Amino acid sequence: VLKLHSDTESGWAARMLENFDEVLLDHAHCEKKAAGVAVRLIFQYPAFPFMMEPLSALAREELAHFEEVLGWLERRGLGFRRQKPSAYAGRLRRAVRTAEPERLLDLLLCGALIEARSCERLGLLADALGEDPLGRFYAGLRKAEARHHGLYVDLACEVAGRAAVEARLPELADHEAEILDTAPREARLHSA
Ligand SMILES: [Fe+2]
Ligand SMILES: [Fe+2]
Repeated sequence: VLKLHSDTESGWAARMLENFDEVLLDHAHCEKKAAGVAVRLIFQYPAFPFMMEPLSALAREELAHFEEVLGWLERRGLGFRRQKPSAYAGRLRRAVRTAEPERLLDLLLCGALIEARSCERLGLLADALGEDPLGRFYAGLRKAEARHHGLYVDLACEVAGRAAVEARLPELADHEAEILDTAPREARLHSA
């Protein structure tokens, strides 16, 4: 069960397929960033040893996704390159409070929401692509991102307690939905 506060509109996946090379490149960057988020938490929070192994495994899995998307880029005759990211992650991060332990709670819950949204969006792409091999690849990722969502929620509960998570997650989910609601239409996974 994803805790998102909005559903992506029905025409979104078809629009993304119109400019899919750009979306695939964005997807590669997103997998790289997902690995980076997990690694940064390992560096910043050694005081929470129970987070180390799951975050390390998560980072490895995201890097494996990154390599797989690089493979799809190559198969389409495209190279990896710099790309202007969507404003989504940066805007989401602005809601992270600066004092601890609130900061860690917010970072974990933002991670949970990003994974949930990725799960929703990659699933929409999987449905739109159908039996195409790329569609099957996305169907696999949808399951992985759902699991990552659950992992971040579980870590947040262990760090701050379930009551704190249940109080804060809906606030951040409102913020996340608002960001996408006001996002530009562009060929990015986290666009409008
Ligand atoms: Fe991933
Ligand atoms: Fe993920």
